[in-house]
Amino acid sequence: MYGTLQTKANFAMTRQTSVISVFNNKGGVGKTTLSFHLGHALADMGKKTLFVDLDPQCNLSIYALSANMIEELWLAEDEFIDSGFDQSTTKLGTDQFKALIASPRSIHFLLKPTEEGTGELSDLPPPIEIAKNLDLIPGRLTMHMYEDRISHRLLNVRRGPFGLQ
Ligand SMILES: Nc1ncnc2c1ncn2[C@@H]1O[C@H](COP(=O)(O)OP(=O)(O)OP(=O)(O)O)[C@@H](O)[C@H]1O
Ligand SMILES: [Mg+2]
Repeated sequence: MYGTLQTKANFAMTRQTSVISVFNNKGGVGKTTLSFHLGHALADMGKKTLFVDLDPQCNLSIYALSANMIEELWLAEDEFIDSGFDQSTTKLGTDQFKALIASPRSIHFLLKPTEEGTGELSDLPPPIEIAKNLDLIPGRLTMHMYEDRISHRLLNVRRGPFGLQ
């Protein structure tokens, strides 16, 4: 009986994805450093691990990638961030857009259609493999734009059409 239950539990565990967030209000206390080492330790243990760098400081991406790689990655998507996603996609053309998302993109690029309220990307770019079992969706310094827009939207929903301004 115990054996059967344990087998079922193990089966469930293998199919389960866990999200681990490291949170502390205080700055500079080691959240990013802990996350970086935790990710590597989980990957070493054979767990398929994905870093998603949502922090506009991008320290996790800076720890994991070379400055050149980050610069190149950000440069290729600048127009999408600065001039609007849909407009830039049309300007680039279908084939070149497909080529752009065939390589890793920042989390801000992936979330830009959500920020602009136009939808979601249907085809997702691959993450960056930084070690065995360990991938990264890199951050971007411009993520503050996404944070601002989404927090305003949430605030407006809470206020409602007749709420206090
Ligand atoms: N266990 C540790 N022992 C000594 N120094 C550490 C330790 N963990 C982190 N540090 C150092 O402390 C500094 C801040 O660490 P880290 O950037 O991880 O903090 P943080 O909480 O993510 O900061 P922020 O709030 O700015 O995002 C870094 O210089 C880092 O190298
Ligand atoms: Mg940090």
